[in-house]
Amino acid sequence: MAKSNVVDQVLEHYSSSIPQHVGIIMDGNGRWAQQKGMPRVYGHKKGVDAVRETVRFARKVGVKSLTLFAFSSENWKRPEDEVSGLMELFMLVLTREVNTLHKNNVRLKIVGDISAFSDKIQKKVISAHQMTEANTGLTLNVAANYGGRWDIANATKSIANDVQSGKLDANDIDETLLGKYMCLADQPELDLLVRTGGESRISNFLLWQLAYAELHFTSVYWPDFDELSFAQAVEAFAGTERRFGLTGEQIKQNEI
Ligand code: IPE
Ligand code: IPE
Ligand code: MG
Repeated sequence: MAKSNVVDQVLEHYSSSIPQHVGIIMDGNGRWAQQKGMPRVYGHKKGVDAVRETVRFARKVGVKSLTLFAFSSENWKRPEDEVSGLMELFMLVLTREVNTLHKNNVRLKIVGDISAFSDKIQKKVISAHQMTEANTGLTLNVAANYGGRWDIANATKSIANDVQSGKLDANDIDETLLGKYMCLADQPELDLLVRTGGESRISNFLLWQLAYAELHFTSVYWPDFDELSFAQAVEAFAGTERRFGLTGEQIKQNEI
């Protein structure tokens, strides 16, 4: 794929197989910066530019939900100055970018345990949710202090509370019900997971939601991820046959 008019080319060739929901593990900021002899936080700052480009691309090609892993529940264990640099950046982004997202009809949701963040950040998160909740374009989920195991534990806790208060019968608990208590239950199923930075692991991202997602790993460091990189992921996605447990023949028959 040529670098110019990437969006047009994607729409021309893959419009019938655009993933509805894409998750991205935005990895490699630190290594990207270190390669340039710069501090790791510089890589995180540059990563924000890549987020902007990614959101723009997702909107243009018609992705419905984009879920970005920004900060995992394990990332608190990083050196103090990196964690505080990331918090400052989070605050800055929430202050500077939300108006533009709103203007572009984007619904912004922060998913994860936000109670661990400062009051200032929590207030910004709540006001961003309120400002954008009625928007009908792209839903942008930013996973912050998020962990897939936390998500499952949290859903389980809510179910237990509903059983205890009599709202729910324990015998009614099944996969569908548990799914309804998980983060992102209001959105299309996750179709495609992209991880940048060269590693082939999930790092406690969307464990439940990944059940039938296609996985795309690329060695590109997150600050270098651009429209072309995203288009390559869509191209790979469009080229796979999603069978969901059926045979290839059954899938072909269903298409007729
Ligand atoms: C991902 O980049 C961003 C966060 C985890 C916040 P990294 O900071 O993990 O970059 P590498 O993997 O060390 O290069
Ligand atoms: C995953 O990246 C978390 C985010 C991208 C926010 P990490 O860099 O934290 O993952 P590991 O430690 O390499 O598994
Ligand atoms: Mg990393």
